[in-house]
Amino acid sequence: MKSLIVYSSQTGNTLKLAKVIYDELKGKKEMFSIDEAPSPEGFDLVAVGFWFQGGKPDPKAVAYLSKCSKPSRAFLFSTHGAAKDSAHVKSAMDYAVGLTNGGAIAGMFTCQGEVNPKVLEKVPVPALAAGF
Ligand SMILES: Cc1cc2nc3c(=O)[nH]c(=O)nc-3n(C[C@H](O)[C@H](O)[C@H](O)COP(=O)(O)O)c2cc1C
Repeated sequence: MKSLIVYSSQTGNTLKLAKVIYDELKGKKEMFSIDEAPSPEGFDLVAVGFWFQGGKPDPKAVAYLSKCSKPSRAFLFSTHGAAKDSAHVKSAMDYAVGLTNGGAIAGMFTCQGEVNPKVLEKVPVPALAAGF
């Protein structure tokens, strides 16, 4: 089994998840920042991690996920400011799955990350907790 872990992370939250996934995966594995990631072709499992921007996966992840269609098996993971069980998170993850265009989804994991204080100045905390 040959796995590829690709992460998009601006402030480090998603990178923390990527490192845990890397440590836990068995078999051959490689991990790259999304800026340096190879094509997902040829890997048995491709784990793609991203943060949310504007209610969607961040733009770099949107571009990469579009390359993860058949026959790659994708595991999606993300961090976000909104509450884990919110409609906001479900909608963004559904959007991410849609981008894989029929690629098999091996699993998903999401959790709240720390939100940059500059973002919180513009978006009050209760709004984030309510899922924007
Ligand atoms: C410009 C900007 C836009 C954001 N938009 C959202 C959003 O739409 N929904 C959300 O839940 N979190 C949003 N966040 C919060 C980030 O997704 C969250 O802090 C994430 O954990 C950052 O991951 P990173 O540390 O890997 O970059 C936004 C953050 C920034 C900086």
